[in-house]
Amino acid sequence: MIILKTPAEIEIMAEASRVVAEVLEIIRKEVRSGVSTDDLDRLAEKEILARGAVPAFKGYRKYPKTLCTSVNEQVVHGIPSGRKLKAGDIIGLDLGAIVGGFYGDSAMTVAVGPVADSVEHLLQVTEEALDLGIKQAAVGNRLTDISHAVQQHVEAAGYSIVTEFVGHGIGRQLHEEPQVPNYGKAGQGPRLQSGMVLAIEPMVNMGGSEVRILADRWTAVTADGSWSAHFEHTIAIQPSGPARILSRRLARTI
Ligand code: CO
Repeated sequence: MIILKTPAEIEIMAEASRVVAEVLEIIRKEVRSGVSTDDLDRLAEKEILARGAVPAFKGYRKYPKTLCTSVNEQVVHGIPSGRKLKAGDIIGLDLGAIVGGFYGDSAMTVAVGPVADSVEHLLQVTEEALDLGIKQAAVGNRLTDISHAVQQHVEAAGYSIVTEFVGHGIGRQLHEEPQVPNYGKAGQGPRLQSGMVLAIEPMVNMGGSEVRILADRWTAVTADGSWSAHFEHTIAIQPSGPARILSRRLARTI
């Protein structure tokens, strides 16, 4: 069942998502050669708590950390560790927060110093695919209009969509219905309605689409070792016009 949110609930979700956006912005500025993924995780936790919010991922299905840090060929759900970033790496930063019982969820992939042009292009195409998906998130469309727009852009660039993981409805639970695949024919699935809140999150590989899970039971990596990018926003479908991007990254406030 898809749970529609009231305008008042959407304001609370906007607050949770704003916390996520602000903290991601802070973390992004700390990404540099020599910093460990654990350093970033500690900072994320401190900044979430400083805003009166609760880390959403820590303890979720026994996930041990606040942040997911997925480096290079890691697709999603990389667990922060003592691993130090190196110039030329890329790192996916995925963060969730709870405010007033509601979740916000967002992710981005950033370069550690200068990276190869081909890698910069992967990041750009993945973020554009997210933006194009969000543009389809409007009343009058159906769910897979989002999916199709994402897939079309990624594949036109010669990259592949990860199909093992999908976006999701979000609210009082991190994962609610509907699932939001990043692939598929347009014009299918539920009609988009005002009050739907979705986390749209394309995961894009430079090589093949296949992934496997490491022995830590969390980290998803590309099967062929090619590098991968991930961007995610929590968005709310409006009564008319384009979706509201609840996790849009603006300047920090505290
Ligand atoms: Co998500």
